[in-house]
Amino acid sequence: MKKIFAANWKLFKSPKETREFFTQFKELSSKATGEVVFFPSAISLEATSTSLQGTNIKWGVQNAYFQAQGAFTGENSAQVVKELGGTYVLIGHSERRKIFGESDALIADKVAFTQSLGLIPMLCIGETLEEREAKHTFRVCETQLLQGLSKADKSKPVVIAYEPVWAIGTGKVATPEQVAETHTDVFSILQKLGFEQSPILYGGSVKPDNAAGLIKQPHVNGFLVGGASLEAKSFIDIATV
Ligand code: PGA
Repeated sequence: MKKIFAANWKLFKSPKETREFFTQFKELSSKATGEVVFFPSAISLEATSTSLQGTNIKWGVQNAYFQAQGAFTGENSAQVVKELGGTYVLIGHSERRKIFGESDALIADKVAFTQSLGLIPMLCIGETLEEREAKHTFRVCETQLLQGLSKADKSKPVVIAYEPVWAIGTGKVATPEQVAETHTDVFSILQKLGFEQSPILYGGSVKPDNAAGLIKQPHVNGFLVGGASLEAKSFIDIATV
C-alpha cells in the first residue's frame, strides 16, 4: 500500500506564508516516499491550490459541511474544495470533536457527503488519556469507526488517521509498541466493517526523529503531522522515512 504523509496546519499560515512555504517545499518534494497531502486553514486554500498547480502534491480542507451550500454561517463547502482542485476532507479531528462539539452522527454525514462528491474523507479517531488508562482504547476506536463509517460507501476510498488525543500537540508520542497494537486493532475493526483497503495513518507528535521507528510498525501506512509540518525541512524529513 502506498504511504501517505499528511500535514495538518490547523489555524496557522496566512496565504502569503502558505505561498512562501510551497516555494521552498516544492524543491524538496520529489524526495518524498509516498503521497504528500496538505490541510491548510480555509482562508489559505486558494493560495495552496494555486501554488500546487502542476505538481502531484495533494491538498484538502480541515473541515467541511455535509451540504454544498446554504445558510450555514462559518462553514466550508466541500464542493468548492473540489472546484479548486482539492482531493481530501479531514473529518472528525479531535479538536473538532472536543472544541466544536462534533458528534459521530455529524461526522458520518460528512464522510458520506465527501465521498458523494468524489473527494476522499480522512477520518480521525483516537482515545483520550482517561480512556486509555481505563483500557477503553479498542472500544473507543471501534465506536468511532462503526459510527463514522456507518453511511460510507465501501467501494470508494476512505483514509483513517489514528491519533491518540493525549499525543496531539503534547510532545508525548505513542511508543512503537502502542502504535503497533492499536493499528493492528484498528485494521481488524476495519476488516470486520469491510474497509480493510483503507490506509491507516498515525498522528500525534510525529517528528523527524521518531518517524522512522513508527513507520516500521504493522498497519502504519503514513502519518498525519501537525506541529512538525509547519516547517518544510522537518516535514520532508518525515515524508522521506
Ligand atoms: P501534532 O498534531 O503533530 O502537532 O501532535 C497532529 C494532529 O493534530 O493532527
